[in-house]
Amino acid sequence: MDAHTRPGRSLIERLEEFEQVFQAEDPWSFLTSRYEQARHRLTLDLVPPCGLALEVGCAEGVFTEMLAGHVGRVIAFDFSRTALDRARKRCAHHTNVSFALADLVTVEFPEAFDVVVATEVLGYLEEWRMASLLAKMARWLHPGGLLITNPPMGRSAIGFST
Ligand SMILES: C[S@@+](CC[C@H](N)C(=O)[O-])C[C@H]1O[C@@H](n2cnc3c(N)ncnc32)[C@H](O)[C@@H]1O
Repeated sequence: MDAHTRPGRSLIERLEEFEQVFQAEDPWSFLTSRYEQARHRLTLDLVPPCGLALEVGCAEGVFTEMLAGHVGRVIAFDFSRTALDRARKRCAHHTNVSFALADLVTVEFPEAFDVVVATEVLGYLEEWRMASLLAKMARWLHPGGLLITNPPMGRSAIGFST
């Protein structure tokens, strides 16, 4: 995955790089890679049936569509306009999905979600932001809600409190 972007860049440079990455459709082969399909299925298995889920960094909406069939309502966001346009088209037939153009670093939500899913996103963000981003996403959950995320490979231990 990191073959697509270079580490150690500022956020705006990263966004421009993601827009480049999304010049090609399905840049991570989510629709065709058996690994990615299995990863999405395993992630979905972790999501309990619930009312409202938030997906962070939804890309072109491949996992969003799976989530839409599994929970009551989904809010999904990404900072790439190109990706989000495709996600909106992919999920147009799902009336329970809404999308937002937003940056994880700056966006805020009220405490409203039963589940927050943020997979394959944190690895693109600076290590020094990890603890505060994890704490922020945890704050978006109802008490007893579930944050599903995967720690970036090779990163040191992260501590955060809610
Ligand atoms: C590898 S894709 C992951 C897609 C999906 N979460 C999954 O697990 O299949 C990474 C996505 O994160 C988005 N992203 C990266 N940094 C972001 C940020 N700071 N705010 C919002 N989205 C971000 C990118 O635009 C890209 O669509």
